[in-house]
Amino acid sequence: ERRIQLSPSLMTMDLDQFKEEITFLDGKVNSYHVDIMDGHFVPNITLSPWFIEQVRKVSSLPLSAHMMVTDAPVWVKKLIDVKCDYICFPSEVANGVAFSMIDDIHAAGLKAGVVLNPETQIDIIKPYIDVIDKITVMTIDPGFAGQKFLAGTLSKIVELRRIREESDLSYEIEMDGSTNLKHWKMISDANPDVYVIGRSGLFGLTDNIEDSWSQMVEEYE
Ligand code: DX5
Ligand code: ZN
Repeated sequence: ERRIQLSPSLMTMDLDQFKEEITFLDGKVNSYHVDIMDGHFVPNITLSPWFIEQVRKVSSLPLSAHMMVTDAPVWVKKLIDVKCDYICFPSEVANGVAFSMIDDIHAAGLKAGVVLNPETQIDIIKPYIDVIDKITVMTIDPGFAGQKFLAGTLSKIVELRRIREESDLSYEIEMDGSTNLKHWKMISDANPDVYVIGRSGLFGLTDNIEDSWSQMVEEYE
């Protein structure tokens, strides 16, 4: 049977119940997803390296930063400083700096990830696909929760699995955006390793994390 890894997207959680929600989720999920935006790469600002340090105080699960920033090397440094377990940079601004960012992340003993926005093709990451630890396929336009699911992006997940097998690589494949009941079948057919679950799949279902969790589990089983 398939082992699904779940990664709640913390920008969609209720901040007034921060500690309770993390405590509840901790034994049930595999990592937390932290969206970091600069108001420039996308027109929004959400979490930050400082937030990573706050989550650390209440959870020991791996934290994964999804960077939506224009000046990626600057933010990679800040995320290395707070020892973020997975540092995932945007492929679209990595030209000329990808190898040095990956080296810096690995030198700090952390994992390097790269993100493909909906319009971005796999070819752009081919030069360093053999040294990357995780690839995130965006299934919505980045920047906001609760956006239109872009089913056409799922073929990239299938293709990334094919490349991984053919070239004997070991990167993890993650999907991010509108992971919910409506799309669960399509997503599980594409078969990513990590499912980011946000507002539409978990936190926004009810006002209570335990109820939301049972509703979600009921949906995907
Ligand atoms: C959007 C973020 C997602 C978002 C997903 O830019 O990358 O992580 O929180 O939320 P849902 O699953 O509700 O679309
Ligand atoms: Zn994200």
